[in-house]
Amino acid sequence: MNEDFLANADCILKIKCLLLSCLSSLSACRILTEICGGLVTVEDEQAWMASYKYVGATTNIHPYLSTMVNYAQPVKFQGFDIAEERNIHHNMSSFNESVGLGYLKTHAIEFVNYNKRQMSRIYPKGGRVDSSNYMPQIFWNAGCQMVSLNYQTPDLAMQLNQGKFEYNGSCGYLLKPDFMRRPDRTFDPFSETPVDGVIAATCSVQVISGQFLSDKKIGTYVEVDMYGLPTDTIRKEFRTRMVMNNGLNPVYNEESFVFRKVILPDLAVLRIAVYDDNNKLIGQRILPLDGLQAGYRHISLRNEGNKPLSLPTVFCNIVLKTYVPDGFGDIVDALSDPKKFLSITEKRADQMRAMGIETSDIADVPNDTSKNDRKGKANNAKANVTPQSSSELRPSTTAGFGSGTDAKKGIDLIPQVKIEDLKQMKAYIKHLKKQQKELNALKKKHAKEHSAMQKLHCTQIDKIVAQYDKEKVSYEKMLEKAIKKKGGSNCVELKKETEIKIQALTSDHKSKVKEIVAQHTKEWSEMINTHSAEEQEIRDLHLNQQCELLKKLLINAHEQQTQQLKFSHDRESKEMRANQAKISMENSKAISQDKSIKNKAERERRVRELNSSNTKKFLEERKRLAMKQSKEMDQLKKVQLEHLEVLEKQNEQAKEMQQMVKLEAEMDRRPATVV
Ligand SMILES: *[C@@H]1O[C@H](CO)[C@@H](O)[C@H](O)[C@H]1NC(C)=O
Ligand SMILES: *[C@@H]1O[C@H](CO)[C@@H](O)[C@H](O)[C@H]1NC(C)=O
Ligand SMILES: *[C@@H]1O[C@H](CO)[C@@H](O)[C@H](O)[C@H]1NC(C)=O
Ligand SMILES: *[C@@H]1O[C@H](CO)[C@@H](O)[C@H](O)[C@H]1NC(C)=O
Ligand SMILES: *[C@@H]1O[C@H](CO)[C@@H](O)[C@H](O)[C@H]1NC(C)=O
Repeated sequence: MNEDFLANADCILKIKCLLLSCLSSLSACRILTEICGGLVTVEDEQAWMASYKYVGATTNIHPYLSTMVNYAQPVKFQGFDIAEERNIHHNMSSFNESVGLGYLKTHAIEFVNYNKRQMSRIYPKGGRVDSSNYMPQIFWNAGCQMVSLNYQTPDLAMQLNQGKFEYNGSCGYLLKPDFMRRPDRTFDPFSETPVDGVIAATCSVQVISGQFLSDKKIGTYVEVDMYGLPTDTIRKEFRTRMVMNNGLNPVYNEESFVFRKVILPDLAVLRIAVYDDNNKLIGQRILPLDGLQAGYRHISLRNEGNKPLSLPTVFCNIVLKTYVPDGFGDIVDALSDPKKFLSITEKRADQMRAMGIETSDIADVPNDTSKNDRKGKANNAKANVTPQSSSELRPSTTAGFGSGTDAKKGIDLIPQVKIEDLKQMKAYIKHLKKQQKELNALKKKHAKEHSAMQKLHCTQIDKIVAQYDKEKVSYEKMLEKAIKKKGGSNCVELKKETEIKIQALTSDHKSKVKEIVAQHTKEWSEMINTHSAEEQEIRDLHLNQQCELLKKLLINAHEQQTQQLKFSHDRESKEMRANQAKISMENSKAISQDKSIKNKAERERRVRELNSSNTKKFLEERKRLAMKQSKEMDQLKKVQLEHLEVLEKQNEQAKEMQQMVKLEAEMDRRPATVV
C-alpha cells in the first residue's frame, strides 16, 4: 500500500480489501484499521517488534508494516459535533456500511462536512458472509474517501468501483468536486435541485447497434443506467428491445434514452450493459459522465470483472447538453427546506430505496440532531452569506426587499391623515362647541357677579354719602335754627363749633370713604383675580382636552390605517396562495398530459422535481411577500409615530402659547378700582 494514499482528505481513494475467500470481510477490514494504527515511539516500536510472533491471524499486524503507515490515526467515531470540535485532520474513523447509511440518513450534510476535514472508511457489514458488495456510490456522494469492497466479487458494485477509478490514469486518486471540499459550501448529497455553481446536464444515449457480442445465435438487449446522486440515479428503466438470433451484429436503432436532468455530472457514471436472452451479462462498461466524449462512439465492453473483452462493442450516439430547467427558482438552499427532520430522513430513506438500498440495511445511529442541527444551521447560515452572495440568491433578495420602493407603494394606498383633517372631524367640532358653551356660561356668571358687586359697592357708598349728607345737613340745620333764634352775632361760638363738628364729620367721612373704597378695590380685584383664574383654569382644561382628543382621534385613525394595511396584506397573501395553488395544479396537469413522458418512473421524477422546485419558489415568494409586508407595516408605524410626534409638538406649542398669553394678561392687569 502506498502511504501517500492516506494523506489527503480531498480525494476519494481506491482501497482494496485484500481478502482471502475464507475470511469474512469484517476481519479483512480490520487489517486496514490496524495497518493505519501509526504514531508509535521508537521504544514502543522496538518493544513491539521484540514481542511480535507470527500467529497466522490477520489481527496481528507485523510492526514493520504498521510503522510504515503513520499519516492517519484511527479513532472511534463519537459524533460529528465532537469531531468538529476536536478538528484533528489526521484522526479518521471507520463505519460499517449500516452505520454509514444510518449517518447518511440522519446527518448527510454533517457527514459531507466531516469528510471535508477528515477521512472516513466504510467497510462491508459483518452480515456479508457471501462476500457480496454494497453500492459504493452513495458513500462517494457524501465524499467518503475509502469505500472498501470485496474485491473477489465481480458484481455491479465492483464494476462501478473499477470503472470510476479507471479515470485519472487509474492512479487511484480522484479529486472531489469543489463543493465537497470547501468549508464555506454546503452540499446535501440528497439534493434534488442543481447544486449552486454546478451546471446540470442532460445526457441522451441512443443505442444503434452491437458488434461481436456473441458468436452464437442468441437474443441480446442493451441496458443503459445512470448512477450518481439519488436523484440522478436511474436504473433498470432504459433498455432496448430484444434482438433475436443475432449475437454478431444486432441492430437496435432505439429511440434515444434521455437522462433529462443530471444535477451533478461530476459524480455521475453511465453504465452500458449487454445481456443475452437469459438475462446473463455479456459485457458492460462504466463511463463517468465527467469527461464523457459525446458523439457517435463504439464503446468497447468489459467482462463482469471489468477486464477488457477484445471484440464486443456497442455503437452509440451520445449527446451531452446543459440542462435547462422548466421554471426558474432552482437555487439550492437545503436549509430553506421547511420539511421537518423526520420527514427529511424518511425522504432520504425513500431516495436510498430508489437506488436499491434496503431499509433494513440502514442502522439506527445515535440521535444528536438537536445539537447538530443547530450547529449545521449556524454553519450554513454563515455559508449562505459568503459563497452565495455572488450567485443568484442575492439579486432576487435585494430586488425583493432591499429597496424601499415596494414598501412605499403599499403604504401609498392607505389614506393619509392630517392634523387639520382631525380638526374638521365632527367629534372635535362638537367638543369645541361644548367647551365654548362652558366658557360662555362662566363668563356670564362672572358678569353677573361683577354687576352684583358693583351694585353693592354703589349702595354702600351711597349710604355713606347719604349718612354724611344727613349729618352735615342736621348740623347746618341746628346752626340755622340757633341763628334764627339767637341772632347771628350770638352764634359765633356755635358757628365755630358747628364748623368744627362738620369739619370732623367731613374728615371722618373722607376717611370712611377712603376705607370703604380701599375695601372695595380689594374685593373687586380679588373677584377679578378669582374670575380670571377660573377662566384661565377652564381654558387650560379645554386646551388639554382638545390635545387629548386630537391624540385620541389620531390614534384611532392610525388603528384604522393599520387595520386597512393588514386587510390588504391578507388579501395579497390569499391571492398569492391561490395563484401558487393554481400554478401547481396547472404544472402537474401539464406533466400528466405530457405525451413525451413515457414511463411512470419518469413521470414521478418530474412531479417530484416540480414539487421541490415549486416548493422552493413558492417559499421564496412567500418569504419575500412577508418581508415586504412587514417592511410596509414598519414604514406605516414609523410614519404614524412621526405624525404623533408632530401632534404632540403642536399641542406643546399651543400650551406654551396659552401660557404666554396668560402671563401677558397678568402683567397687563392693573388693580382695578371703582370710583
Ligand atoms: C486524535 O489524535 C490524537 C493524537 O494525534 C489523540 O490524542 C486524540 O485522542 C485523537 N482524537 C480522538 C477523538 O480520539
Ligand atoms: C456495525 O458497527 C456497529 C458498531 O460500530 C455494530 O454495533 C454493528 O453490529 C455493526 N453492524 C453490522 C451489520 O456489522
Ligand atoms: C489526478 O491524480 C493526481 C495525483 O496523481 C491528483 O493530484 C489530481 O488532483 C487528480 N485529478 C483529478 C481530476 O482527480
Ligand atoms: C431523534 O430526534 C428526533 C428530533 O430531535 C426525534 O423526533 C426522534 O424521535 C429521535 N429518535 C430517536 C431514535 O431518539
Ligand atoms: C407534491 O406536493 C404536495 C404538497 O405540496 C404533496 O401532497 C404531494 O404528495 C407531492 N407529490 C409528490 C409526488 O411528491
